[in-house]
Amino acid sequence: MTEIEVQLQPRYSVQVGKDLLETVQVPHARVALLADAAVLETFAPKLAVSLERGGSSVSIHALPAGETCKTLETHARLLSSLAQERLTRDAAVVSLGGGATSDLSGYVAASYLRGIAFYAVPTTLLAMVDASVGGKTGVNLPEGKNLVGAFHQPRGVWASLDTLETLPEATFREGAAETFKHGLLANSSLCDRVLEPGFSATSANLESTVSDAIQVKADVVARDPHEAGERAHLNFGHTLAHALEAFTHHEISHGDAVGYGMHYAAILSSLAGGDDLTHLTRAFLEYQQPRVLPALTWETLEPFMARDKKADSAGVRFVLLAGLGKPKLERVPNALQLEAWRAFCADLKLESR
Ligand SMILES: NC(=O)c1ccc[n+]([C@@H]2O[C@H](COP(=O)([O-])OP(=O)(O)OC[C@H]3O[C@@H](n4cnc5c(N)ncnc54)[C@H](O)[C@@H]3O)[C@@H](O)[C@H]2O)c1
Ligand SMILES: [Zn+2]
Repeated sequence: MTEIEVQLQPRYSVQVGKDLLETVQVPHARVALLADAAVLETFAPKLAVSLERGGSSVSIHALPAGETCKTLETHARLLSSLAQERLTRDAAVVSLGGGATSDLSGYVAASYLRGIAFYAVPTTLLAMVDASVGGKTGVNLPEGKNLVGAFHQPRGVWASLDTLETLPEATFREGAAETFKHGLLANSSLCDRVLEPGFSATSANLESTVSDAIQVKADVVARDPHEAGERAHLNFGHTLAHALEAFTHHEISHGDAVGYGMHYAAILSSLAGGDDLTHLTRAFLEYQQPRVLPALTWETLEPFMARDKKADSAGVRFVLLAGLGKPKLERVPNALQLEAWRAFCADLKLESR
């Protein structure tokens, strides 16, 4: 088992290893366990037993599977359930599921009684290396991704690697996108490990790969908890990604969208004078095999890009890589964005430009 400390006030730790569900206990008399429907039967009972062994009384709430739970309607429904159960300020929310589950659950915890304790038990690779650490919580609006939310740090995270064994392989590879991104930003050996043949839920080096990817995120978050600066770098690849997700109504998953978005951002970075890292992002797409993009034109995508949270009144800003491990946030002229889009479509042999 590996333990990573997130150096915030208060500190919390992320445990990474196998068979951790049996060890999860929290110092709260009442716990609302919010579980993704896909793991409700496989993992929620085991987790509830462990929490109860630790002295908590647990109510289990099923969430719609995946991204469909990240709505204001589900948020409101859960707040009402917690109120009907008369949960008090000393109660806790524990989330069990992927990044969508932890985003929604964290936001429920952040808003119920103006904030109760939150713990995360991620069951996708993406949620382990990214979503469950750092305290960003929230839901989507029809107008765009993650447009509503709050910062609310978890008090503990348990990444139990055995839970990844029930993931569809494509979902595992989606999660590899954020792992790879953390490699590009700060630890290039992570990129090598993801691109090694056969990187999967059963890889021998999974614990160290997941731990190292979490460490990158934990370091950035500790230096910039509220995204005043450096933390925006974690959004590498996400400007196009969020636009693809919103445009396709989430038919393109977050991880797949980030795979595409990183390749676009690498093209843009090199056009803007940075090192050419596109061989890496292309190799990642070859590994990831993301869902094929629908026909898209720049004119249809651009309005979605303009809603990016890194945009300010002067326009959209992109995270670019000057080189491996050298991210920076920069405004990019529209003409260059379009040139990168054309190169992206040509490289991936996409029909529509
Ligand atoms: N808060 C953050 O800092 C942050 C960071 C990155 C991503 N995110 C968010 O995370 C979300 C994406 O997360 P994700 O990729 O985990 O997607 P997800 O939560 O939608 O899960 C993907 C799919 O896997 C299923 N699933 C989950 N665990 C499973 C298991 N162990 N076995 C079988 N099926 C399982 C889910 O039902 C879903 O269908 C996006 O909404 C994204 O915006 C948030
Ligand atoms: Zn992401």
